[in-house]
Amino acid sequence: MANVSRRQILLGGGLALGSGLLPGVNLLRSAYGEEISRPDYMVRVCFNENPWGPSRVSLQAMADSFKYSNLYGGADRRAMMELMGRLNNVPADHISMGTGSGEILRTAGMLASMQDGSVVCADPTYHDLIRYAGNTGSEIIKVPVDENFNTDLNAMYKAIRRDTKCVYLVNPNNPIPSIIEKNELRDFVLEVSKDRMVFIDEAYYEFVDNPDYGTMMGLVRDGHKNIVVSRTASKIHGMAGLRVGFGFAHPDLTKEITTRKTGAMSVLSLNAAYAAYQNDEFQKFTLRKNKESLAIIEAMHEELGHRYVKSNANFSFFETGHDIQEVYDAFLREGIIVGRAFPPMTKWLRISMAKPHEMEYFVQTYKKLYG
Ligand SMILES: Cc1ncc(COP(=O)(O)O)c(C=O)c1O
Repeated sequence: MANVSRRQILLGGGLALGSGLLPGVNLLRSAYGEEISRPDYMVRVCFNENPWGPSRVSLQAMADSFKYSNLYGGADRRAMMELMGRLNNVPADHISMGTGSGEILRTAGMLASMQDGSVVCADPTYHDLIRYAGNTGSEIIKVPVDENFNTDLNAMYKAIRRDTKCVYLVNPNNPIPSIIEKNELRDFVLEVSKDRMVFIDEAYYEFVDNPDYGTMMGLVRDGHKNIVVSRTASKIHGMAGLRVGFGFAHPDLTKEITTRKTGAMSVLSLNAAYAAYQNDEFQKFTLRKNKESLAIIEAMHEELGHRYVKSNANFSFFETGHDIQEVYDAFLREGIIVGRAFPPMTKWLRISMAKPHEMEYFVQTYKKLYG
């Protein structure tokens, strides 16, 4: 749970610099002071995308699907649901498919706002569900993260009112890449879901390598009602532009979601996802490269003494001491698109993990501007 412990941070930085256990980490170039030239394209560290995707198997599946683009039923939706069911050990009638997990999030936000009441979430956190629920009539109750920048379950529990229709949890959180300790989370979800929907957004689930973390998929599997777990192909499979996501919930709630959502995946997206979820190699590659990039960035945080939260995902969040709009503009001039400001933490910057050599260029630029 202690995501910002000094010891953890030192271990992270030390491993990256000293052990040579991460093949391909090219820290020497910058260590010897060699100038990294500016790429001839914009480096994107803004939207938590996967710079390596889509995988070759997904690209091939899309190429093979072009010829079915004239058909409504050109992809086998049933097979996709069954594959997701097998991979997550839940029956297919527990699964809803969305044009990105964003569609599942917004549909849950709509369900919450169909009755007068409130939605409780951490602050800061991801916006899709809460913005949609807010726009369609819910009152949004934002609960600040605690002093270690973790989602504060006790404070959230206290903030829940009789009229609260949904509690939204993002685990790992975004923009703060912290996790919620698994046993505390399980107890919280079981208790709170007795009277309202609890939505656990696991968009970054595949990136977590932390014994304190646990998915809440098991609660769905065990038949608990009022619980939704969402996952996405956007991050681990590098398919953000293809819009593929999933919701997992009791069949009654799944039916409510599927009858209200309005999107439908294209034949290209479905077939690309079907191929991607069967391909372990690309996932492993993504994870390895993500670790390399994080090691470069977290070594910079150590060197410059930044306050930051050790990452459980594919992005980093750290205190710059500067207004983020100014930081954004300065980086744009250097050919890098960084994350936007995330109020109320307006001097903290979120950067996604691009390729390791791009992160080296980011570090060089950061030191030039603010080091
Ligand atoms: C926590 C979280 N949930 C959901 C999403 C939306 O992902 P998708 O592309 O599946 O709509 C994002 C995207 O950045 C995210 O950070």
